[in-house]
Amino acid sequence: DKAQQDALKKAAGIEAASLVTNGMVAGLGTGSTVRFLVDELGRRVTDEGLSFTGVTTSRRTQEQAESYGIRIVDIDDVDHIDVTIDGADEVDGNFNGIKGGGAALLWEKIVATNSDRVVWIVDESKVVDTIGRFPLPVEVIPFGAGHVIKRFEDRGYHPVLRKDAAGKEVRTDENNYVVDLHLGRIDKPEELAQDLITTVGVVEHGLFLNMVDKVIVGDPQGPRTLVN
Ligand code: A5P
Repeated sequence: DKAQQDALKKAAGIEAASLVTNGMVAGLGTGSTVRFLVDELGRRVTDEGLSFTGVTTSRRTQEQAESYGIRIVDIDDVDHIDVTIDGADEVDGNFNGIKGGGAALLWEKIVATNSDRVVWIVDESKVVDTIGRFPLPVEVIPFGAGHVIKRFEDRGYHPVLRKDAAGKEVRTDENNYVVDLHLGRIDKPEELAQDLITTVGVVEHGLFLNMVDKVIVGDPQGPRTLVN
């Protein structure tokens, strides 16, 4: 159930917080698992005098981090990021994953690409044999989005434009749309990634292929680490 899953997310988040030490530049991801991470980092700032600089992957995470007095800077104001800790929606045994359930995939991929090390925190339900059961998020420019969706339909990708509870199109931090591809399973992630990124109107997609160094999995027996 949800309480049990939250406990696993929290355990992974707390475990990962120990990777952040004084003087570091840390990338902070987005989502419900990362919330627990940022709570723990905030606690360490208050209780232990931890001092580090953060680069965030969404406005939501920025607000939460700043509420704890964590110093957040623009990604272009740092020359490197020591470690980025983020959530994921699915990850397989080849360290290929899906991200973007929280619509933050574009900034997440930019931050990850500029990080020395990338660590994901997930509960055990997200570790899968084959990715794709989770609908693959694709960030699309609003202008002409209907045509992009039509192309995806023609290719058999089963696209759904993401809307909020009020029926309004979800907008990313860059003001774009998110189209979720209901693929069921993704057997050739590299090919799919190539096809998506070369489709005009697509800004970025949620396939993060072999971009993670370590996955901390919240497990009922305690957090375990998968090393790439
Ligand atoms: C945000 O866009 C996503 O990539 C999140 O990292 C992902 O959806 C994981 O979120 P949860 O920790 O809430 O499952």
